[in-house]
Amino acid sequence: MDAFIRDIPKAELHIHIEGSLEPELMFALAQRNNISLPYSSVDAVRAAYQFENLQSFLDLYYAGAAVLQTEQDFYDLTWAYLERCAAQNVRHTEIFFDPQTHTERGIPFETVHTGIYRALEDAKQQWGITSYLILCFLRHLSAESAMATLEQALPFKSTIPTVGLDSSELGHPPVKFQQVFDRARAEGFLTVAHAGEEGPAEYIWEAIRLLEVSRIDHGVRCVEDPQLVDYLVQRQIPLTVCPLSNVRLCVFDSIQQHNLKHLLDLGLCVTVNSDDPAYFGGYITENFEAVQSALHLSHQDIYQLVKNSFTAAFLPSDEKQARLDELDQFMASVT
Ligand code: HPA
Ligand code: ZN
Repeated sequence: MDAFIRDIPKAELHIHIEGSLEPELMFALAQRNNISLPYSSVDAVRAAYQFENLQSFLDLYYAGAAVLQTEQDFYDLTWAYLERCAAQNVRHTEIFFDPQTHTERGIPFETVHTGIYRALEDAKQQWGITSYLILCFLRHLSAESAMATLEQALPFKSTIPTVGLDSSELGHPPVKFQQVFDRARAEGFLTVAHAGEEGPAEYIWEAIRLLEVSRIDHGVRCVEDPQLVDYLVQRQIPLTVCPLSNVRLCVFDSIQQHNLKHLLDLGLCVTVNSDDPAYFGGYITENFEAVQSALHLSHQDIYQLVKNSFTAAFLPSDEKQARLDELDQFMASVT
């Protein structure tokens, strides 16, 4: 089973690139940029990763991101994630980035974007890994700040097909960003949003009705509203679920309590993703391994989850079909 999980060609649809900053790279970049960190060692950083909820994680996540200063830093961060993708047979990835985390510190949007994007281009050359960028607005900041960020992104529109919504969910419902998302869709962006992670099912409805999202990020609290579940099943609106994240941020008490298998059995288009792999104890393969053993997933369940992620990807239909064919060839080779 472990080899099957590692080798099956995968897509990842929910990964924050700033959340892939491993403590080793955090220290290396701090040294390179003459920044002092409030930790004595890499082990001390890892020891600090004990979270009570989303906010307690976000506080450390934004602090860690402060070591990212130059285009090369963003390149190195992204390249390190893509090396993991290559090792774990991730064939396609859709990556969130949080420009406001950096522009608020005086780092130009272009520095962030160019560093990340160059690494994506190089990974496509080197490994054939395809990727898309998703610009996330920080929902704890104002709608005006989000709108200004959208305007900064317009010159790079051809390389950023989608916008999303992340950060502190409770108290910052999707409606707060309705006008920003109206403008984004008018400019041709697709939309996604984090909803139903800590927030209620109502936020998922808002994301669908007001932001017209193509996917819901997390969405595990949809089960609190049977009508919503029916709607998500009928339309096959994908949920990008992040099991290890949900346990680390106390959305579920343990991986055995996670509702992923239940969501799958309901016929929802659920996918498995890592969210912030450096902070939550693993990349996509470790997420699959954790849910497989805790929830007793079969080979067929794993196949369905992986297939869902290619189906839910924003790839053009010919490229999507090529990835699905690659998946079916893999299945034929192992059965
Ligand atoms: N939820 C909301 N915002 C985030 C997350 C998350 O899981 N990870 C990084 N930003
Ligand atoms: Zn997330």
